[in-house]
Amino acid sequence: MAQEKSTFGSKLGVIAATVGSAIGLGNVWRFPAEAQANGGAAFLLIYIICVFILGVPMMLAEFSLGRAGGSDSVGNFKNLTPRSRWWIAGTLGLVASYLILSFYMVVAGWTIEYMFDSISGDLYRGYVPTTESANATFFADKMGEYVTSTWNPLIWTAVMIGLNLAVLLIGVRKGIEKLSNVLMPLLFVLMLVFCYVSLSLPGASEGVKFFLYPDFSKIDIDVIINALGQAFFSLSLGMGILVTYSAYYPKETNLTTTAVSVSLLDFFMALLMGLIIFPAVKSFGIGSTTGELEGTTLVFVTLPEIFASMGNERLWAALFFLLLSVAALTSTISIAEVSVAFVRDRFRVSRRRACLIVIVPLMLTSTACSLSLGGAPWLSVAGMPLFDFFDTFTTNLLLPVSSLAISIYVGWVLPKSFIAEQLTNFGALGGRSVGVVRFAVRYMAPVLISVILIAKAVAWL
Ligand code: PFF
Repeated sequence: MAQEKSTFGSKLGVIAATVGSAIGLGNVWRFPAEAQANGGAAFLLIYIICVFILGVPMMLAEFSLGRAGGSDSVGNFKNLTPRSRWWIAGTLGLVASYLILSFYMVVAGWTIEYMFDSISGDLYRGYVPTTESANATFFADKMGEYVTSTWNPLIWTAVMIGLNLAVLLIGVRKGIEKLSNVLMPLLFVLMLVFCYVSLSLPGASEGVKFFLYPDFSKIDIDVIINALGQAFFSLSLGMGILVTYSAYYPKETNLTTTAVSVSLLDFFMALLMGLIIFPAVKSFGIGSTTGELEGTTLVFVTLPEIFASMGNERLWAALFFLLLSVAALTSTISIAEVSVAFVRDRFRVSRRRACLIVIVPLMLTSTACSLSLGGAPWLSVAGMPLFDFFDTFTTNLLLPVSSLAISIYVGWVLPKSFIAEQLTNFGALGGRSVGVVRFAVRYMAPVLISVILIAKAVAWL
């Protein structure tokens, strides 16, 4: 039984749901870690350029493809060019989304576990704030123990999958849209509170300086490659998400203002996160000794330590992991929807059945990802745990190739008028930005993404 076409109910809903997907662990942990590793403010500067020069046009290419195609990530290509094989390009985003979902669900599970452990006080049990040496590895050990254990992470991953399933079963408008409308403002308020607290710490200005005053000598090709990769990940590009969500956009949605609003909000959240992390890290001198703030360590090791130094650690930790769980939930929902929409549209089954068809194998692949970190080390591919393999394979290869394919398809394969029609809603809106967007999608995106792929291949060889 085919479903009636669902759409988001309001402009705000369109933006909240899309922003919900964009703002995720990518902003909270990946962005500060990348900024730290790539020279702070120098990275921020290049990142802004990447988001607005390439990110927004590519987002518009995905929005146009999804709304005109009106189907799932593969079906959009089939509807727009029925007799071609371009639908294969859609499967790249679909596969990437499924692999990402498998390990991201596990991390999302950790965030809820940490939230509950903060509330119960378990996270700080045995922590002695006075003896420096005894503390050095307390949270790192705790995390290592937790992540590599067998049952606990599996239980919390299952909880996260259950939450996703509940929202997905309710549907696009009443589930995804309603939830995003409530959770996104909550996330925003929590971030502002943390930002205020962090900026009031003694010595906070050191961190602000590192993050906001660029040292241009730090900019090199690696910084540019990393900033572009981060921009694409953070805007959820190439994952099949935006082409799936935009199929639910009403036909009067102004794609350009939506893309600009989503990118601005996503960027603003990354900026806030930098203003939370760097002042706190500099103020307590944590993490700076090792030079690099590795993503997972930052969130699960450095921050709990900072909260302990601030006092009221259980409250701050609980609020922070709530923030993280919210960010993770709205992102996982968006990425799970890619598979749900695919099964629903390709196999013409009800939404309910599609959800179940997606969730059952997901339980297995997420379990395998989690166990590969400890309980079952034989679950490895190319010398790394399945968890890391899925991550590396998607970020380094599948996502860039999927975006490259979309830029070529929208820029070169579809009719020349396609972008103009979608951006102006067939002439109802002004089209000042059409020329710039077309140029970015046809020339800049393919060239830059190819350069990145080649640079990565060379570094790998
Ligand atoms: N834009 C998301 C983020 O920054 O976290 C990317 C994402 C990752 C979306 C994983 C969804 C997801 F499941």
